[in-house]
Amino acid sequence: MRIVQIPTGAPYQVRIGEGLLSLLGEETERVHRPCRAVVITESNVAPLYLDRALDSLRQAGFEAEGFVFPAGEEHKTVDTYIAIQRRLVQLGLTREDLLVALGGGVTGDMTGFAAATYQRGIPFVQVPTTLLCAVDASVGGKTAIDLPEGKNMVGAFHQPILVLCDPDTFRTLPDQRWQDGAAEMLKHGVIADGDLFGRLKEGRWREDAAELVERNVAIKRSFVVGDEKDRGKRQLLNFGHTIGHAVEALSHFSLSHGQAVAIGMIAETRAARRMGWTELNEEILLEAAEKNGLPTRTEFTPGQVLEIALRDKKRRSDTLGVVVPLGLGAARLEQVPVNLLPEYLEKGLIL
Ligand SMILES: NC(=O)c1ccc[n+]([C@@H]2O[C@H](COP(=O)([O-])OP(=O)(O)OC[C@H]3O[C@@H](n4cnc5c(N)ncnc54)[C@H](O)[C@@H]3O)[C@@H](O)[C@H]2O)c1
Repeated sequence: MRIVQIPTGAPYQVRIGEGLLSLLGEETERVHRPCRAVVITESNVAPLYLDRALDSLRQAGFEAEGFVFPAGEEHKTVDTYIAIQRRLVQLGLTREDLLVALGGGVTGDMTGFAAATYQRGIPFVQVPTTLLCAVDASVGGKTAIDLPEGKNMVGAFHQPILVLCDPDTFRTLPDQRWQDGAAEMLKHGVIADGDLFGRLKEGRWREDAAELVERNVAIKRSFVVGDEKDRGKRQLLNFGHTIGHAVEALSHFSLSHGQAVAIGMIAETRAARRMGWTELNEEILLEAAEKNGLPTRTEFTPGQVLEIALRDKKRRSDTLGVVVPLGLGAARLEQVPVNLLPEYLEKGLIL
């Protein structure tokens, strides 16, 4: 088993290993005494893995129940959130009890936010079943739901007490979901680890998923620890996300998060180069994205993207922080005055 320590205010471990899902109960018991546990998952993951999770928890003495919501980003909503909260009340869950997020980033963000707010906060365990969630979303304590006006608009910081990653669960992922994971790993490569980028750029790395999860979680840790609330270096993890979140929303989620981030990273690198802030050429990212099956451009206009970017959470009153990649393995934050944003977006999006 691979173990990454996350020394946040409330420290926890990310434990990675084939077959760990069947040990969910005993692994959870190491960090929480047996109690009532509600496993929150969605309609694609439930038939594949819910029974195994519940059986393991029950064997370890947890009184476990499942809650299943419809799969997809379009269900990361207030309605699903309220349905979860009401079910927890009906079950009489107390602060001594536990939630388990079994699924991808949508389930993790949703369950984390439910855990952050149910009775002002109960503990939760993350069991990521997508590569994207394992290498990124399951670590760092950002939880959220979407509003029609924008992604992740309502949320909280709430760290899990344990992340348990079983790469065997990735075997059922469709190709596109591997590609989504590649997008966030390429992001880590560009901002922090040129060797990792080199390893991913040809797109042949699936056999090494467990090791890559460990390496990417360690990179994410290096940004999160010391900046849990996203006020400094952690913001570099938003590389590709200013434009990415906008095109994801504009596509009404027909673009996945990973696809949108790939488009965003290339456009933000092009914009930064044309603004004279970096010498990194976006071509290298474009090739890596293509080799990993990711899209590289969008038809949405700078004007459409601007409208959404202005509601970005990284916006201050008169500037928006964007990430500038400085090469492969380094990046910095640039505060772009709001009146310069149209130019920045045009430089990024117009080929
Ligand atoms: N909190 C964070 O720090 C953070 C970071 C990155 C992304 N996110 C969020 O994560 C979400 C994207 O995550 P995602 O790509 O995992 O989305 P997702 O949870 O929707 O999962 C993607 C698809 O894979 C399916 N799936 C999940 N596990 C499976 C498995 N093992 N086998 C077969 N199918 C499976 C799901 O049903 C879904 O259709 C976005 O909402 C994004 O905002 C959060």
